[in-house]
Amino acid sequence: MPETPLLVRRPEWTALEDHRARWQAGLRELFATDPGRAERYVVRVGDLLVDYSKNLVTDETLALLQELAAATDVFGLRDAMFRGERINTTEDRAVLHTALRAPRDAVIEVDGENVVPKVHRVLDRMTAFAEEVRSGHWTGHTGRRIRNVVNIGIGGSDLGPAMAYEALRASTDRSLTCRFVSNVDGADLHEAVRDLDPAETLFIVASKTFTTIETITNATSARSWLVEALGGDDKAVAKHFVALSTNAGKVADFGIDTANMFEFWNWVGGRYSFDSAIGLSLMLAIGPANFRELLDGFHLVDEHFRTAPPESNVPLLLGLLGIWYGNFFDAQSHAVLPYSHYLSKFTSYLQQLDMESNGKSVDREGRPVQWQTGPVVWGTPGTNGQHAYYQLIHQGTKLIPADFIGFARPVPELSGELAAQHDLLMANFFAQTQALAFGKTPDEVRGEGVPEELVAHKTFKGDHPTTTILARELTPSVLGQLIALYEHKVFVQGAVWNIDSFDQWGVELGKVLAKRVEPALTDGADVPGLDPSTAALVAAYRELRK
Ligand code: F6P
Repeated sequence: MPETPLLVRRPEWTALEDHRARWQAGLRELFATDPGRAERYVVRVGDLLVDYSKNLVTDETLALLQELAAATDVFGLRDAMFRGERINTTEDRAVLHTALRAPRDAVIEVDGENVVPKVHRVLDRMTAFAEEVRSGHWTGHTGRRIRNVVNIGIGGSDLGPAMAYEALRASTDRSLTCRFVSNVDGADLHEAVRDLDPAETLFIVASKTFTTIETITNATSARSWLVEALGGDDKAVAKHFVALSTNAGKVADFGIDTANMFEFWNWVGGRYSFDSAIGLSLMLAIGPANFRELLDGFHLVDEHFRTAPPESNVPLLLGLLGIWYGNFFDAQSHAVLPYSHYLSKFTSYLQQLDMESNGKSVDREGRPVQWQTGPVVWGTPGTNGQHAYYQLIHQGTKLIPADFIGFARPVPELSGELAAQHDLLMANFFAQTQALAFGKTPDEVRGEGVPEELVAHKTFKGDHPTTTILARELTPSVLGQLIALYEHKVFVQGAVWNIDSFDQWGVELGKVLAKRVEPALTDGADVPGLDPSTAALVAAYRELRK
């Protein structure tokens, strides 16, 4: 196969470099010369309205970015993904999280096998189990109904359900307590279970590989806690532990009956697995119907990404905007700022999705990249951020493109004064994107009677790009739409950068070294080959622990 031409040598890339070199306009000027951009630079997908008018782009910029997408064959790779081809080349795997939310009658083949029936078989089993637990028919070892669910998993086996549980709190069964344990720090499990009654607690051990040391360690401790509390009978495990995994052998080795295992498959990446069996804890919390609504939200955006033309294809557009800033304005990071308390974990979830996918420095052919790849993704709910780090976004020296995510209505559960607070929340939302875009000139500051020595301090340069994502309300479907939007945005960027967005070799070295160092900490064993710095730190740790 001929090698892919280096990205930076493509004429479409150098055209963007030239365009950037000529770039002078600020957002005030862009709106003054083209007021129509406020209407023109808005696209809708499903329930989401995406306004990108406050970005540092013109029609010419967008056309050049689209040419780059066409030259790098983003849609060709997209089609290969949807067809089930093995586009994760370094692991030789298909990438088919889109099959997890496909309707029952869809046909999606991996190696000639239609995988949709088995996806729905597992969804049906999850539904039956969720109904049994939620109705109280599934009881624990001592006959008590389950009132607590503890999901033990890490990374993709934790962040998705943990984030969505927060996001959809208002749709959860409030009589069921759900907690998420991920950290191998014993404090995490301790705090999660210390006030729970073991007889009413179900543990969900979530691990694609079922070999992840953090998860297996926590699950082993949870099993000891439970068995000991329920009179030392190992049979209790069968009623209090279920597993979510691709690895039936390891699940059985751990002591969980594979009849209590909900399966998924190697063509689902860990960080793309939340709408597989990994979502079981969420399904228990929100119920099967809401879970299906969430999957339908994902599917709606999948279909949009698969079929919408480039100019109105929202994931394509968002991906290209990120490339414009990261590769041509040297932006190092990207903020995602939800104006919803319920989305407090949304950005943490996106960190794994984006940074584990696109934190790569060699291209698909193994050549070092000569261009920036994935940004640092960060952010917390907006108003809290306003009183913490927004200062740096407004007046610091760095360009930080940001996505603002907001809703027209609070969740229906809020009423009276609490519901009325929503307008104040959203007033902040709109005010911030306005201030970031248009700033305040020195003359405007002077016009307010500010003494000359303070004018520079009170001036806001503006021209900080933001994209606004608005929806009527945060529903399960809207959450699915939002996540799929970001999944495909990440895909687009990986395709343009010619990197494998679906492997994660970069997390392996730390895992291997941790296993090597552990004996030195626990048994005081001599660990050959430790570098002098780490050896000295290990010695200091052992000394301090005495
Ligand atoms: O962090 C590396 C990683 O492999 C993630 O990609 C994955 O989501 C996480 O570990 C957990 O893996 P598993 O589900 O196999 O326990």
